[in-house]
Amino acid sequence: MTEFLSSAELLAQVENEEALSLVDTYLMRNYGSPKDVVVSGNGSYLRTASGREILDFVSGIAVCSLGHAPDVVAEAISEQSHKLIHTSNYFANEIAPKVAFLIDTLIRGTSAKDDNQGRVFFSNSGAESVEAAIKLARRIKGPSATKVVALNGAFHGRTLGALSATGQPSKQIAFEPLVPGFIHVDDKDIYAVETAFKGGDVCAFITEPILGEAGIYPTSSDFIHQVHSLCQQYGVLFIVDEVQCGFGRTGTWFAHQRWGILPDIITLAKSIASGYPVGATWARGEYGRAFLPGDHGSTFGGSPLAMASALATISALIDADACGMATTMGKLLRDGLSNLDGVKEIRGEGLLLGVELEDSIAGQLGEMTFARGLFVNVIGDYILRLAPPLTVNAQEIEHAISIISDCLSTLRYSITTI
Ligand SMILES: Cc1ncc(COP(=O)(O)O)c(C=O)c1O
Repeated sequence: MTEFLSSAELLAQVENEEALSLVDTYLMRNYGSPKDVVVSGNGSYLRTASGREILDFVSGIAVCSLGHAPDVVAEAISEQSHKLIHTSNYFANEIAPKVAFLIDTLIRGTSAKDDNQGRVFFSNSGAESVEAAIKLARRIKGPSATKVVALNGAFHGRTLGALSATGQPSKQIAFEPLVPGFIHVDDKDIYAVETAFKGGDVCAFITEPILGEAGIYPTSSDFIHQVHSLCQQYGVLFIVDEVQCGFGRTGTWFAHQRWGILPDIITLAKSIASGYPVGATWARGEYGRAFLPGDHGSTFGGSPLAMASALATISALIDADACGMATTMGKLLRDGLSNLDGVKEIRGEGLLLGVELEDSIAGQLGEMTFARGLFVNVIGDYILRLAPPLTVNAQEIEHAISIISDCLSTLRYSITTI
C-alpha cells in the first residue's frame, strides 16, 4: 500500500501529468474524448489550459444562460458558502421558498394564490426532476394507473426511470430491462395516445416542448392540444419536461407557454442555477400537495447553497429580460444562418436552434469551427445544436455566423471537387 503523509504529497504524484491523460486514467469512459481542458470562462467565452479563447455556442448544453461565471451568481455562491452550505431536510432555509415562489410565478404568469398555485420539490439534476414527476404522478393516480406515455425520440435523462421515459433505443438497449410501464408513441399519432389512455392504467403523458437531444424538433402544437384534451377526458396527468427549454431560452419563460396550456407537472433543471446542480419539479394546485412526508427526498436538494445560486440566477434572468434577449438574439442568429448555402432548415425557438445541413458533414463542420475558436454541438451527421448564453451580443453572433459560413463553404467546396 502507498505510504503518504499529506494530501499535498499525494497530489504531488500527479502534479506534472497532463490533465487529459489523468482524465483518461481515472475517469470512467462514459463520455467521448473531451475536446480540450478549460480553466475559466467569462461571458460567452471559455479559456482553455493552453490559453485559447473559445466562443461557446453551447453554454454547458443550455445551462449557462447568463454566460460563464456571472458575477452576480459567483457572489451569491461565495456569500452563502461563508454562511451555510448544507443542513439537511430536517431544517428549512429561507431561500428555497423564495425560489419556488419565483418559479411558480413565472410558470403561471401571476403570483395570485388561486387554485393553480403550485409547489416545488428541489433535486439536483434534470433526470431527478423527471424521476420525481413520475413518482408524483403515480402517487396521485394510485396503483391502478402506473403507466406513462412518452414520445419516440424524446430525451428525459439517464437514471433508470428517466431513461425508461426516454424514447431513444440506442441509449436504452444496454441497460434493459428498463422500468416497465412506459409506452412510446410518435409525435402527431393521436390515435396511439388515445389507444393507450383507453386502457385506463395510464397515470401521465410526458413530453418536451422541443425535442432537444433528438435534434431540436418542436412538438406539434395541434397534437399537444389534442393530447391535453384527451388527458382531461381520461384523467391523465400532463407533464412537460422543460429541463432544456426553460427559463427564457426559447423566448417565453417556458416553451410550453406558446401552447397556452397550464401543465399539471413541470420538470426543470439546467439553466435554473447557472451550472450549480439544481433540479426542480413543479406541480399545480392539489397535485403539489400529493407527496406525503417520507414519499420522496434528496440529501442535497434545496440546500442553502443550491438555492442561493438559483435565486441569484432566476432574479438576474428576470431583471435582464431573458425572454427578450432570447427572442432578439435568436432572430439575428436564425436570420444569419438561414441564408447560408448548405443549410437545409433551421428549427427551434429563441436561442435553442437546430441547424440541419444538406450534407452529412456536421461532425467535420463541428471540428472545423472548433479549430477556428467556435464551439457548437453536433447531433448526428446532419444537425448542429446552437444554445449560446442568452447574454450573447450581436457582434458574437455575427462572428459565429461568419465562422460557420466559411467552414461550411470550405467543406462543401471539398465535397463538390472530390
Ligand atoms: C429535456 C431533458 N430532460 C432531462 C434531461 C436530463 O437532465 P440531467 O442531465 O441534468 O439529468 C435533459 C438533459 O439533457 C434534457 O434535455
